[in-house]
Amino acid sequence: MGDKIRNTAAGLAAAAASDIDEITGHRRMRRTRAADWSRRLTRETRLSVDDLIWPIFVVPGSNVLDPIEAMPGVNRMSVDKAVEAAKMAADLGIPALATFPNVEMHRRDQTGSHALEPENLINETTRAIKKAVPNIGIITDVALDPFTDHGHDGILRDGEIVNDETVRAIAAAAVHQADAGADIISPSDMMDGRIGAIRRALDAAGHHNVSIMSYATKFASACYGPYREAIGTSGLLKGDKRTYYLDPSNANEAIRDAGLDVEEGADMLMVKPGLVYLDICRALKDTFGLPTFAYQVSGEYSMIKAGEAAGYIDGERIMMEKLLAFKRAGCDGVLTYFAPEAARLIAKGQG
Ligand code: PBG
Repeated sequence: MGDKIRNTAAGLAAAAASDIDEITGHRRMRRTRAADWSRRLTRETRLSVDDLIWPIFVVPGSNVLDPIEAMPGVNRMSVDKAVEAAKMAADLGIPALATFPNVEMHRRDQTGSHALEPENLINETTRAIKKAVPNIGIITDVALDPFTDHGHDGILRDGEIVNDETVRAIAAAAVHQADAGADIISPSDMMDGRIGAIRRALDAAGHHNVSIMSYATKFASACYGPYREAIGTSGLLKGDKRTYYLDPSNANEAIRDAGLDVEEGADMLMVKPGLVYLDICRALKDTFGLPTFAYQVSGEYSMIKAGEAAGYIDGERIMMEKLLAFKRAGCDGVLTYFAPEAARLIAKGQG
């Protein structure tokens, strides 16, 4: 190409004008970046309010807003406050909420039996929000950890988190959640066979229209600490969750595990945590093509808030950049504690 250019008058002039043109072959990537209008015109990925799912924490009582120390700006809310929050979220255009309960300690036991109570806090929350704000989607987690006295996601017997008994329990809990009005059941426990069991249980109960968003690849991560404070499991948890969550080293295993969830009937997939596992987000989207979501978990949230509070980083810009990264990696949306903040920025055109 260089020779061809040098053989024309214009080429000679250009070569004389710039050695760099010789190197770039007259390809200048910066042309499209030069002006704001052009950057907007060529932008490949955008974050919209439609991409946001807001996880919220609920507690018993009324008129309670209880700050979570490790998550600045996030409160545990009683159901009445959660209803107000749902209204606010709907007004901001946020499509869906994901709800997590912090139940009283006396209700927690070895098997997480309170998860199977039709009128427990999680189901009470769903009923109240669905009644007051019918057009917002409700996503409920069916893992047992908020209900066990050892903080594990499953039933603990002789030092082992037993798989099949746990799956039967969460499938039954899922039916109660659907009865209460949950739109999407979202199991976060990583037991084998849970997606198929939940699908069968939901269909047998007539809940054909209730979807399953699988926490398909959930890693044994250090990023969940603040969440455990939020739902009151940090003081309870004995040992760790490595016998059921994925090893952070294993991408192939993660994709195979997600593949089983797809076969068993998952409607949507989730990657958790988010940012540390963007490679998995991309792989799941490319491999299965299902609606794919990332959970920007509590530790990811708190690190941004802490950096901002220390004055080290611009929290708002980092928040938006990280949320955008999920879209670029192929995700259709993000579960994020920043959802209202991000929605407000997007509405102001600063997204
Ligand atoms: C457990 C569960 C976890 C989160 C939600 N459900 C992880 C855990 O405690 O091990 C984490 C969410 C977050 O960190 O924001 N079923």
